[in-house]
Amino acid sequence: MNSPVMQGLTLNTPSYVKNARLVAWVADMAALCKPDTVVWCDGSDEEYARLCEQLVSAGTMKRLNPVKRPNSFLACSDPSDVARVEDRTFICSEKQEDAGPTNNWKAPAEMRATLQPLFDGCMRGRTMYVVPFSMGPLGSPIAHIGIELSDSAYVAVNMKLMTRMGKAVFDVLGTDGEFVPCVHTVGAPLAAGETDKTAWPCNPTTKYIVHYPETREIWSYGSGYGGNALLGKKCFALRIASTMGKRQGWLAEHMLILGVTSPEGKKYHVAAAFPSACGKTNFAMLIPPKGFEGWKVTTIGDDIAWIKPRADGRLYAINPEAGYFGVAPGTNTLTNPNCMASLDRDVIFTNVALTDDGDVWWEGMSDAPAHAIDWQGKDWTPQIAKETGAKAAHPNARFTVAATNNPALDPAWDDPSGVPIDAFIFGGRRSTTVPLVTEARNWTEGVYMAATMGSETTAAAFGAQGVVRRDPFAMLPFAGYNMSDYFQHWLDLGAKLQGQGATLPGIFCVNWFRKDEAGKFVWPGFGENMRVLKWMIDRLEGRGQGTEHAFGVSPRYEDIHWDGLNFSTEQYKTVTHIDKAAWTQELALHSELFTQLAHHLPKELEETKTKIEKRLAA
Ligand code: GTP
Ligand code: SPV
Ligand code: MN
Repeated sequence: MNSPVMQGLTLNTPSYVKNARLVAWVADMAALCKPDTVVWCDGSDEEYARLCEQLVSAGTMKRLNPVKRPNSFLACSDPSDVARVEDRTFICSEKQEDAGPTNNWKAPAEMRATLQPLFDGCMRGRTMYVVPFSMGPLGSPIAHIGIELSDSAYVAVNMKLMTRMGKAVFDVLGTDGEFVPCVHTVGAPLAAGETDKTAWPCNPTTKYIVHYPETREIWSYGSGYGGNALLGKKCFALRIASTMGKRQGWLAEHMLILGVTSPEGKKYHVAAAFPSACGKTNFAMLIPPKGFEGWKVTTIGDDIAWIKPRADGRLYAINPEAGYFGVAPGTNTLTNPNCMASLDRDVIFTNVALTDDGDVWWEGMSDAPAHAIDWQGKDWTPQIAKETGAKAAHPNARFTVAATNNPALDPAWDDPSGVPIDAFIFGGRRSTTVPLVTEARNWTEGVYMAATMGSETTAAAFGAQGVVRRDPFAMLPFAGYNMSDYFQHWLDLGAKLQGQGATLPGIFCVNWFRKDEAGKFVWPGFGENMRVLKWMIDRLEGRGQGTEHAFGVSPRYEDIHWDGLNFSTEQYKTVTHIDKAAWTQELALHSELFTQLAHHLPKELEETKTKIEKRLAA
């Protein structure tokens, strides 16, 4: 195919790209964004190495000590660009009610008029990378293709680790295949002859993360970080995909997927939704503790699940991603040994500290080094930390690594048919009120639990931290459409499968984060969460005991397998007891949420709340 030439710019379209719509779109976007050059990524290892070298030369990344951390890099972002920007994220559906009260909304025409002048010339002085990627196994009927145009080489190399990225995508796309167009710019054009003053160009004042669900487009301006910039992840695989799922009868969820095999060799699959930085990666890579010899947990995914019903009445889940963009702080060889092993080599770290021997360090990794360079490039010592509270790593520092680095990777992680889900788990970060684990008595009660979930905010999103907010299904920042319609979609799917005579997955609600009066976590968490997982499996098998209360069924102390752990009945009480006053307050917050979501709120949820209130009062 000929490369059209415009304003002296060659599109460099490779001969193997045969999709006319794609070629025309790239030409349009190049004409709009006005980059100096266009580079089509082929996804090869050679290309990855070349782009990493280039990022090292530009100062965006540092190569880590090749003996300690082979083929690994550290990138440090601009201090203003460290997390998702929820208040700058928009769902631009034609009707406001389709975005719903939990999303920022602008009419598409208005947003296009706002973005047009911002994108005009936004890539001046830079390269536009054409990044072809598949969410889900290449060519599989459940996968969807995206093309990200980005002026960030950091984005291109991260996409190589996070997705199936490369030229094979064009074969799948063929001459007229569908793709989701994703345009990303750091929003920092360079004047003629100007060079970057910082190693992390971004726009410190103007950021827009925009979705047009009806036309399935993503436009991202001004940030180079994580979910703002790696558009296959939250923007495509959650916000756009959730709207596709609503229309087509499937689910796109903020869920890890794990396999758990009992000593008898029976395998179960569990999908769990916890809000950002609330333990999905940890749970997905869990190593069963002492007392659980013969049990095995394997990872299918750590952040996103696409879940589709099949003719057998069961729900099958795939992980659309191919890598992990995980939280570094708090990760260590005790809390998550599989994760630490995944990080031995071939990693891009972002916003962690650099040690004097060219390795990385973050809070909670190991004993602090005597000296390091913190994520902002300043000297850091334990003494400085003590005096100023300076963190060596940003609390939302992350690693990017291919799933194939994970020693606990499930053999079916790449299987286009997905894995059948036996249970859903929902869990927030709550220092009080919510007990360790509760099983919903039925699908509707489970949807209620998920819909009303609260969680303390974390560093994964820009803004205040530690504040309890409702985070329905851990999807508050990620649902691409009206939250009440989303609840209805869950209820409808359950009813449909039940109508086919199917046994629905169990639904459980967990909280690993209850604290004592001294402010310390009481539940040991991490690998010990296996004890809760086993109780759930016992329940699925109809042999687990528990006690029924106002909002479900929870295990008594004697219903948990305690071998290998000293955990007293007193401690157990601290993480499980149900405080009537606290729950009365909690239900008031559910009411507040339901008032906010009143438009289209399924009546079953109101009815469930009334039942819970009655039981609680009894
Ligand atoms: P996103 O990638 O932001 O969607 O988050 P995630 O849910 O994958 O979060 P991740 O697993 O990376 O956990 C983030 C934080 O939760 C880390 O600081 C962990 O130390 C902490 N964490 C994970 N599991 C547990 C647990 O069982 N107990 C306690 N107390 N903390 C945990
Ligand atoms: C989250 O915030 O839930 C993440 C990280 O998984 S990011 O990709 O930045 O959204
Ligand atoms: Mn996430």
